[in-house]
Amino acid sequence: MFLAVLYCLLWSFQISSSHFPRACVSSKNLMAKECCPPWTGDGSPCGQLSGRGSCQDILLSNAPTGPQFPFKGVDDRESWPSVFYNRTCQCSGNFMGFNCGNCKFGFGGSNCTEKRLLIRRNIYDLSVPEKNKFFAYLNLAKHTISPVYVIPIGTYGQMNNGSTPMFNDISVYDLFVWMHYYVSRDTLLGGSEIWRDVDFAHEAPGFLPWHRLFLLLWEQEIRELTGDENFTIPYWDWRDAENCDICTDEYLGGRHPENPNLLSPASFFSSWQIICSRSEEYNSRQALCDGTPEGPLIRNPGNHDKTKTPRLPSSADVEFCLTLTQYEAGSMDKTANFSFRNTLEGFANPLTGIADSSRSTMHNALHIYMNGTMSQVQGSANDPIFLLHHAFVDSVFEQWLRRHRPLLEVYPEANAPIGHNRESYMVPFLPLYRNGDFFISSKDLGYDYSYLQDPDPGFYRNYIEPYLEQASRIWPWLLGAALVGAVVAAALAGLSSHLCCHKRRHLQEERQPLLMEKDDYHNLLYQSHL
Ligand SMILES: *[C@@H]1O[C@H](CO)[C@@H](O)[C@H](O)[C@H]1NC(C)=O
Ligand SMILES: *[C@@H]1O[C@H](CO)[C@@H](O)[C@H](O)[C@H]1NC(C)=O
Ligand SMILES: *[C@@H]1O[C@H](CO)[C@@H](O)[C@H](O)[C@H]1NC(C)=O
Ligand SMILES: *[C@@H]1O[C@H](CO)[C@@H](O)[C@H](O)[C@H]1NC(C)=O
Ligand SMILES: *[C@@H]1O[C@H](CO)[C@@H](O)[C@H](O)[C@H]1NC(C)=O
Ligand SMILES: *[C@@H]1O[C@H](CO)[C@@H](O)[C@H](O)[C@H]1NC(C)=O
Repeated sequence: MFLAVLYCLLWSFQISSSHFPRACVSSKNLMAKECCPPWTGDGSPCGQLSGRGSCQDILLSNAPTGPQFPFKGVDDRESWPSVFYNRTCQCSGNFMGFNCGNCKFGFGGSNCTEKRLLIRRNIYDLSVPEKNKFFAYLNLAKHTISPVYVIPIGTYGQMNNGSTPMFNDISVYDLFVWMHYYVSRDTLLGGSEIWRDVDFAHEAPGFLPWHRLFLLLWEQEIRELTGDENFTIPYWDWRDAENCDICTDEYLGGRHPENPNLLSPASFFSSWQIICSRSEEYNSRQALCDGTPEGPLIRNPGNHDKTKTPRLPSSADVEFCLTLTQYEAGSMDKTANFSFRNTLEGFANPLTGIADSSRSTMHNALHIYMNGTMSQVQGSANDPIFLLHHAFVDSVFEQWLRRHRPLLEVYPEANAPIGHNRESYMVPFLPLYRNGDFFISSKDLGYDYSYLQDPDPGFYRNYIEPYLEQASRIWPWLLGAALVGAVVAAALAGLSSHLCCHKRRHLQEERQPLLMEKDDYHNLLYQSHL
């Protein structure tokens, strides 16, 4: 008994932020529409006695949304989280979490006053023990029931408007699979009616902020689960990859020798069971995914439809995306032209920025390429490649933010598809986060990417400074050398025009093959269009 209480106490100290806290799913909470659990540090709701936060009415933005979703009052995710709750904890200062028991991203320490900056690294830069530790964490998360969160297994209506709660336990890893399913699932309209053209995290401006928050929360859960306060997700840099080079047993799993759709029995993930992969079945039952195991991970990299996705993204594709100056454009959905978001997401040609519904490029290309669990939006987070892939997509978003330094106003305030306005709260997170909150540099959220880091400040001190010092000591010699140099330069002046022409011709020769390569590539695209 004592141990159980201690266990609960320990866990509630580590409480953080995400979907449906256990503490808020009683019929009492649901009927009152209140989710303001006590912070265990002082036992008061939202840690109010310690000045951490207080229970407040939720203020919803009333900015209009786009025409893509022509309904009102039919989906629990509309005006998130107002169907379930109208009061939550609002935390002050650097506190965060559904009970203000956590620190904001980028802060740590018992009073959340210490600034943190953690680095996400290329998976190939991890040592073998570091890499194996990462896989061990994944496995632990997959097999540990979340002490803090549960998932709803019915709609609000199916719960009789909260009077008969329907919630299930879920593992820490599967909680995230479920959240990704829930945010992208179809709308159940009753009878046999379904609305498919809706997604609270894809095909619209919220795509990048939503997945950014998703990864941050995932890291936070792993840190709490393992006590490894410095844990970060590694990324897979897929630029110019010719195949799935991380699909080996040492990394994310090789191919099964007998069945090309399955993982090799020697891989870390061959025994994993997937959830939330059967959208048609849920739709036909007008039910939600309830987390029941649905079989092994499916993956068959490279077996995809090549006319839709002829290749994986190149460095040139990424570079082109980064030159697009508009974050979002036009109707702000998958038909948007010259939208950085739409091009990086993969609904536009990555060499022109023009929307192209016949192709899956960039981010989408990786999903399609894996030809299995990764390829269906709702179940894709079952495959741990999802995390490494999205970490890299997020790094490209970060590069764009650093290059263009947009004001918050650049993120659309109104008329985006439902759920995607700047002030909309992101589905299905509790406590509440707005899309616009993540339209800032990752350094302000406490993380950076190893390949984007500023050059080491020690570089100047260790290399440039001694060099300048040395130069100052020998300056008379340098001056003399410069004078002699000037005479020699004058003597050589006659030669220079000849050299110049020669050089220009040389440059042209160098550039020719590059141009041809590009033209050939266009032809290839047009051909496969037919
Ligand atoms: C919140 O919901 C409860 C239960 O439906 C209701 O009684 C209360 O008036 C609502 N509060 C606000 C501020 O809307
Ligand atoms: C945190 O804040 C409390 C109350 O202000 C204070 O008593 C305590 O010493 C602080 N702890 C640290 C580690 O700063
Ligand atoms: C739930 O609430 C809706 C809207 O307020 C109402 O129409 C419906 O009858 C309620 N259902 C139940 C089972 O209470
Ligand atoms: C995390 O990193 C900090 C700074 O490098 C170090 O002081 C601390 O011991 C690390 N914590 C763990 C659990 O490794
Ligand atoms: C795998 O690719 C084939 C085409 O090569 C396609 O018909 C099939 O639907 C894909 N499977 C998945 C799960 O994406
Ligand atoms: C995007 O550009 C293409 C080609 O110029 C054009 O046909 C299409 O109508 C444009 N789409 C939108 C939504 O403006």
